This record gives sequence, structure tokens and C-alpha cells, in this order.
Amino acid sequence: MANQTIAQYPKGDRSILIPLLQDIQDEFGYLPEDVLMEAAAHIGMPLSSIYGVATFYNQFRLTPLGKNIIRVCRGTACHVKNSANILFGLESALNLKPGQTSRDKNFTLEVVSCIGACSIAPVICINDDYYGRITVKEIDKILKKYQPTPAKATNAKSPEVTK
Ligand code: FES
Repeated sequence: MANQTIAQYPKGDRSILIPLLQDIQDEFGYLPEDVLMEAAAHIGMPLSSIYGVATFYNQFRLTPLGKNIIRVCRGTACHVKNSANILFGLESALNLKPGQTSRDKNFTLEVVSCIGACSIAPVICINDDYYGRITVKEIDKILKKYQPTPAKATNAKSPEVTK
């Protein structure tokens, strides 16, 4: 079935590529390959050219986001307050580089240039939660709040019954 987002754009018009990619990303949260293939056929553009555009602009992502999005501010105010160490600490704790999502899809790590909270630099933001004047020592404690709760054991032993 044709994707409705793509179908609303005129066929064969390559000039609409950017807004089309933005709409696809709004719908899926990223740019799925099968949808890009459909977009390529719709506007008559090679898939490789579409990937060229999608990878040029950092607003586009080719992989799905994790459940929790961690944004590390690397703007000037945060930089002078050692945000590089915070980023390194998060990379180490999560085993992720900026732009990557954990295998369990729980975390995505991103770098941003300023999140408008310079007075409490260095700052990170996890989803809608801001953590200001953060130190590397606090990272593990903060991340624990966003870890999935362990599933309850379904095969737990029943209490022994004596006859
Ligand atoms: S530079 Fe980090 S919040 Fe502005």
C-alpha cells in the first residue's frame, strides 16, 4: 500500500525532497529504507541521491530513536564548564557515540549546540528533564532513573506447601 505522506506530493517533482523527507521523519521518527525507496520511485530520483541528501543534513536520521533521548549540550557556556567530560562519561556509561541508539533501544545519545539553559551549565537533557551543573559522578545515578524496570519473574517458585 502506498504511503499516504508520499502520495500527497506531486509525482516526479524532485524539488519537494526536503519537505517530503521531513514529513516522512515526522511520521516514522526516522527515515525507513523501504519508505525512502517508495519516495525515490515517486519523485523519480535515485535512492542513492536521496541518501546523499538525508546524510548531509543532520536533522535527518536513518535509524529509529531510543525510548530515552539524551541531549548533551556542547554550546560555549557548557564547553567552558567541561561538557566534553560529561559527554565522555555518557559515552563510556552507555557504550554509545553521539547519534547512536543502544541495542535495547532504551537510549539515544545526541549532541546539541545550546539548549537554552546556559546559566546552569553544563547541562544535559533526557527527554524533557534538564540536569544542570552536572558532574561526571552523577551520570550513573541519573541514568538509573531511565533504565527499564526488570520484568517480574514469571517462573518464580511457589511457596512450598507441606502436607
Ligand atoms: S551552551 Fe549549554 S545550555 Fe547554552
